[in-house]
Amino acid sequence: MSNLIEPHGGKLTNLLVDGNEKTRLHEESRQWKSFDLNQRQLCDLELLLTGGFSPLSGFMKQEDYRSVLDDMRLRDGTLWPMPITLDVSAEFAESLREGENIALRDSEGVMLAVLTAEDIWQPDKEAEAEAVYATADTYHPAVEHLFNQAGDYYIGGSVQGVCLPARYDFKLHRNTPSELRSEFERMGWRDVVAFQTRNPMHRAHVELTLRAAKETGANVLIHPVVGMTKPGDVDHYTRVRVYQKILDKYPAYTAHLSLLPLAMRMGGPREALWHAIIRKNYGCNHFIVGRDHAGPGKNKDGEDFYEPYAAQEFVQQYESELGMTIVPFQMMVYVDDLDMYKAIDELEENQEYSSISGTQLRERLADGRELPEWFTYPEVAEELRRSYPPRYRQGFTVFLTGLSGSGKSTIAKALQARLLEMGGRPVTLLDGDMVRKHLSSELGFSKQHRDINIKRIGFVASEITKNGGIGICAPIAPYEATRQEVRGMISAGGGFVLAYVATPLEICKQRDRKGLYAKAEAGEIQEFTGISDPYEEPEDAEVVLETEDTTPEESAQQIILHLESEGYLAGETDS
Ligand code: ADX
Repeated sequence: MSNLIEPHGGKLTNLLVDGNEKTRLHEESRQWKSFDLNQRQLCDLELLLTGGFSPLSGFMKQEDYRSVLDDMRLRDGTLWPMPITLDVSAEFAESLREGENIALRDSEGVMLAVLTAEDIWQPDKEAEAEAVYATADTYHPAVEHLFNQAGDYYIGGSVQGVCLPARYDFKLHRNTPSELRSEFERMGWRDVVAFQTRNPMHRAHVELTLRAAKETGANVLIHPVVGMTKPGDVDHYTRVRVYQKILDKYPAYTAHLSLLPLAMRMGGPREALWHAIIRKNYGCNHFIVGRDHAGPGKNKDGEDFYEPYAAQEFVQQYESELGMTIVPFQMMVYVDDLDMYKAIDELEENQEYSSISGTQLRERLADGRELPEWFTYPEVAEELRRSYPPRYRQGFTVFLTGLSGSGKSTIAKALQARLLEMGGRPVTLLDGDMVRKHLSSELGFSKQHRDINIKRIGFVASEITKNGGIGICAPIAPYEATRQEVRGMISAGGGFVLAYVATPLEICKQRDRKGLYAKAEAGEIQEFTGISDPYEEPEDAEVVLETEDTTPEESAQQIILHLESEGYLAGETDS
């Protein structure tokens, strides 16, 4: 019998069925409707199936949902702070009969589980946001998701698992709750203190976890979230490589790394309690809660959503009910004089200290500045620099927009030549006419077709950018919303510079190099931008090019100067 802590609610749930039952469900599923799970639902399902969410045995029905919102408890009284619901579109919900089975599938169409739709309802999203996150401000990532992305209906009911979602990365570090419990037993670990994280670990975190281990006499489980974290976080591949290096910093046989496929909500206090419950299910009897645990950042007024120690104080209230020890930490900072880390409440009055925030860290990496040794280990710094190279080694896209005949293509060619002369990165020109020929030959000039064309260009440019190349795009791109979308796609993987070639319509008409304006005015060409189709002038262009008295070379140089000032070109010669 294990010495480890009991799972939440007394018993570890395992919703996966055995072989025969699996075959039967597969056969029957031909009659059922299918639902394709998104990333977040996939994470929730995985933790339901493995028992990470014990004692839940499916997606919540209305009674449990309401009770969780109002009292933070399931209907039977079990402490549970987070609604675990399956959101679907109104259309899908309306197609269902209560009690029917639904095949839950991954994006490839593999059936992972069967959900019996026992309850279908339309939630009050505002009330949910207020109850769970204490705000309806969409700067909160979970509120944004709830209001703008989640389906308008929920389906609750029991779940039978057919197979776990396929995970191909870092398999040796992935454990279900029962596997992790067995590992603890094999290692002879009676007491385990879990450390939750969604960030790379540095000296402060090692210090904090080592202290927690000493104070509690427990072994350390590094239990990072690799499902979904806050948008903009360091990707989990990089983080796991960092954690693997960090393991060497602990005395032998006292620390273990396991990855948690959780979709975080960034819900501060309620989320911290949820984190503790999940760790209890994984066999841990101690849980660290430091400063701003699961914090969602700033609200629309630039203020923190939760007080820095609100999560910590909140979870501590439930210590005895959980049967776990909550290990609280004040912010750990580096004290220069002593060359050591201390909790901020241990400092003498006016004692100097240093710390580097996540944002400051990202800025340092982007600028190619040093990460000081007091802050992190050289191995960690190297790993971060490898994934987040300085700007002059990142890819970027220059996106020229403007009327037909404004000079986009000529400027793009001059810019391409300059960048090729500099060397160091491959350059791809996606000129308007070229794209129309090779990528979009079947498309016309309706709003819909123009948008498809621009999104194709955006997709190709985002791949080029992500892979460290330079993309130069020169389509008309008349619509603001589509340009915004493309900006979002490209900036996720590198730099994005919008250059507005602001040649006035009159000048374009006078130049009329291809004779198109004459034809458009004569009605021989339809839907011609500036004549019979709109052009929405950009207000967010990084560079505005007035071409009336400027040569294309001068305009290209203006873009080069912008790239240089943003750090995309500096240091190119020594790369
Ligand atoms: S979180 O969203 O998962 O909470 P993060 O990975 O930054 O974000 O933090 C993981 C845990 O470490 C949380 O309990 C947090 O409070 C704690 N923590 C992180 N940095 C510090 C620090 N410098 N001092 C004290 N606690 C910290």
